[in-house]
Amino acid sequence: MRLFLDTANLEEIREINRWGVLSGITTNPTLVSKENEDPEALWKEILAEVEGDVSLETTEPEADPMYKQGLHLAQMGPNAVVKVPMTPDGLEAGKRLVADGIRVNVTLVFSPAQAILAAEIGAYIVSPFLGRIDDVASDGMYALRQICEIYDIQGYDTNVLAASLRHPMHVVESAIAGADIATMPYDVFVKLVKHPLTDVGLQKFTQDWQALQRGLKGGA
Ligand code: E4P
Repeated sequence: MRLFLDTANLEEIREINRWGVLSGITTNPTLVSKENEDPEALWKEILAEVEGDVSLETTEPEADPMYKQGLHLAQMGPNAVVKVPMTPDGLEAGKRLVADGIRVNVTLVFSPAQAILAAEIGAYIVSPFLGRIDDVASDGMYALRQICEIYDIQGYDTNVLAASLRHPMHVVESAIAGADIATMPYDVFVKLVKHPLTDVGLQKFTQDWQALQRGLKGGA
């Protein structure tokens, strides 16, 4: 399962990228608006910062302008992936972009039925929003498992990207469900590396090593 960061913040991207495990970035209009910068300039910096896929989201509601905006976003970099919403216009624009050879990410997906539609237009990525499904007292992980099973049975090539992840167990369960990609905010990414026993173990190793060094110096 590839790990993506769900952010438009360059410092967060640079920090996690140094770990050598970052395979891509997802952005959305809310994340971009938080940075309060010119979106085009920001997207270009993000595209240059990472080797992997970077999803850039369309904002035009109607199919034709959305398609044209998608063409523009796609030419911003070879690693650009164009996000379209799961709406009739999004499907229409997405299908035209796919026909032009552009990689499309269908976003704002909340059900297996919607995920079938995304696969049928030949999307590169489908993004079910697990956390937001949980927010309305439904089961996001169950929806993800159903989507992965349907895609497997039907032989769809579309990559399942588990989105709107809120904690490390969302990431672990997404991997077990068979998601191709998990995207998560910086705070969830940082939690993946943390374990109290790692901290305690490292502290003990360091103390013992330092004691040895002191002993060797004392004996010389
Ligand atoms: C995915 O591409 C979306 O940007 C994202 O995962 C949405 O997550 P949220 O529900 O935390 O806003």
